[in-house]
Amino acid sequence: MGRPRPRRLLRASFAIFSLAAIAAGGPAALGQPGGKPADPKAAPAAPAASPSAGETLRHAARGRFLVGAAVSSWGLNDPKVAGLVASQFDSLTAENEFKPASLSRQPGQYRFEAADRFVEFARAHDMKLVGHNLCWHSQAPAWLFRGQDNKPLPRDQALKNLKDHIDAVAGHFKGKVIGWDVVNEAISDAKDEYLRKTPALRAIGDDYIAKAFEFAHAADPGAELYYNDYSNENPVKREKTVRLVRELKAKGVRIDAVGMQCHFVLSDADAIDKLDQSIAAYAAEGVKVAITELDVDVLPRRGRVADIGALEKGGDNPYKEGLPPAVAEAQARFYARLFEVVLKRPGVVNRVTFWGVHDGASWLNGFPVRGRTNHPLLWDRQLKPKPAFGAVLDVLARP
Ligand code: G3I
Repeated sequence: MGRPRPRRLLRASFAIFSLAAIAAGGPAALGQPGGKPADPKAAPAAPAASPSAGETLRHAARGRFLVGAAVSSWGLNDPKVAGLVASQFDSLTAENEFKPASLSRQPGQYRFEAADRFVEFARAHDMKLVGHNLCWHSQAPAWLFRGQDNKPLPRDQALKNLKDHIDAVAGHFKGKVIGWDVVNEAISDAKDEYLRKTPALRAIGDDYIAKAFEFAHAADPGAELYYNDYSNENPVKREKTVRLVRELKAKGVRIDAVGMQCHFVLSDADAIDKLDQSIAAYAAEGVKVAITELDVDVLPRRGRVADIGALEKGGDNPYKEGLPPAVAEAQARFYARLFEVVLKRPGVVNRVTFWGVHDGASWLNGFPVRGRTNHPLLWDRQLKPKPAFGAVLDVLARP
């Protein structure tokens, strides 16, 4: 790897120095998924000292777009991770705690303790909280759309369940979130199929999406409403997403933005150009764009879907000992190009959220191949900033 440029060296050493201060608690204590379960009643950890404002993502992007991270309860529990999140990000998404199955296991019964900690943390650190998500085919209780016989419920019953769920959840977080991923991943990946055959679609029909948006708007009229999906930078899925936005608008349904998850793969050289074209396409429909689940996978894989069920057998695990500098630099260039595209149309992309905080806690260590060592984010497992962190700040620092 060529010697990092003086400014990035300065920034990296500054961040390492300040993180050393943060990491006083010692690496072993890093809250890792699978570690001891998070105690929902414990108050969020008081974040340790953090770097000065000038050198953070939230400070560098302020006034242009929100910079966020998806965090799990484990992360909030860990002072070092909490410190980094509070200092670097001005938007927060719960990785799993706001999902239907996390909030409600039995009809009409809700438990908000774990999720409410995210409200507290966001409020304490002046962060905008995003709700993920109100309606999804995964991590959703079966009773919402299926009967005991596992068959789709009658339309009216399923619609009532959907409305009751959204009333309860969006009602509980009314005024506490800036917006909701109202419907997640409803568009089919199959070329010739428009909508994914979800339990909601089977029970209610195609209009379940519009209904979910109507129910969400009624439950919290002040909240922004997003349609969120993966691979919607790809032309085929882009066209279907544009169709969905037009249909919702034609029905007078409020939709504020398209959420592009952007679970990218470093070896996909054309990904950023496709992202650029998709941002233009969605902006042309009069909606904003949010990059909602950003990470850059550095490991080989066959598939490109982000569906947790789409696991793959086998697959190399080449970076167990660490990320080679050359790959780290390539990843830095990928992230830099992405932020250049984000800045290209001021006011169109209103948020960039990373799906996780540091490499050690990324879902991509277990997907699509279980048990690999991935390096998809801006901080490594010791919470040390990677070249990608400096590269993104370089782009944001440009006049
Ligand atoms: O909470 C249980 C825990 O009680 C149990 O001991 C443990 C062992 O299996 O599982 C825990 O649940 C896991 C949950 O994450 C919380 O950690 C689920 O098994 C696991 O499947 C779930 O994975 C989440 C996945 O969504 C589920 O689909 C990932 O953390 C999360 O990063 C991922 O996020 C999705 C977005 O919501 C939507 N877009 C794609 C993205 C990646 O799949």
